Amino acid sequence: GKVGVLFGGRSAEREVSIMSGTGVAKALQSKGIDAHLFDTGERSLAELAAEKFDRVFIALHGRYGEDGSLQGALELLGIPYTGSGVMASAVGMDKITTKIVWLAAGLPTPRYAVLNAQSDLAAVCADLGLPLIVKPPHEGSTIGITKVNEAGALKAAYDVAAALDDAVLAEEFITGREFTVAVLGAGAAARALPVVEIVAPQGNYDYQNKYFSDDTQYFCPAQLPAELTAEMQRIAVEAYRALGCEGWGRVDVLLRERDQKPYLLEVNTSPGMTGHSLVPMAARALGISYEDLCVEILASARL
Ligand code: DAL
Ligand code: MG
Repeated sequence: GKVGVLFGGRSAEREVSIMSGTGVAKALQSKGIDAHLFDTGERSLAELAAEKFDRVFIALHGRYGEDGSLQGALELLGIPYTGSGVMASAVGMDKITTKIVWLAAGLPTPRYAVLNAQSDLAAVCADLGLPLIVKPPHEGSTIGITKVNEAGALKAAYDVAAALDDAVLAEEFITGREFTVAVLGAGAAARALPVVEIVAPQGNYDYQNKYFSDDTQYFCPAQLPAELTAEMQRIAVEAYRALGCEGWGRVDVLLRERDQKPYLLEVNTSPGMTGHSLVPMAARALGISYEDLCVEILASARL
């Protein structure tokens, strides 16, 4: 049947989604699938309904694509879609609620505080220690994130995040190595792909180093003791299941240098599928091509 690749959209990650969506559509077409690009940032839900897609591949990132709102609309329209449902998408898009769920499930995540305009910033620095990380909790691709090295810099970092979001997350800084674990499937059948280690210039895996720089190094499978690889994959799958994620996703993990323990940062329920992206890299380590990965994700589309 006719497949829609939903891409573009209206979030701050529009540019990333255009790269993901064009890659996915091309891959599906190369496999003989009747795939059509549909930009949800330029076209309406009425136009989407009129396309009469049999199913859609969501290649959108961020708000109005990855956050449950589009998933809810697709439920109402009766169009099967890839990835997580309404609730897991909404929770996964909110880094604060994600942490609350993970902590309730006994899963490790860096200590944090939720900031507002009245917060005692000196007390936050004393509690979380320095450096700390300030994030707008509903953004992706490192947009609006600041590493704060001294207490005097926290207000400016807060202002950057507050301009993008209605809440602000401050998180303890974990000194260590950076990894990500792709997960495919749902429930008991959810499985982790090989772990990817990310080594960014000056440890700064920001927007530029994610998508445009060739200076970021990736190692897949990551060079880790077998027990640590298994532990990282285990907690990534548990983290994914705890949120009720389905289809596919990617869990970002830091390995603390001091105790060699993994800490969960966030889940991405509609991960990047660009030429620099990590789910395709992890799949390739298992011999799964980008094209076959797209077909497998599409096959998991449901209502
Ligand atoms: N938010 C970007 C697209 C990712 O996680 O891959
Ligand atoms: Mg993210």
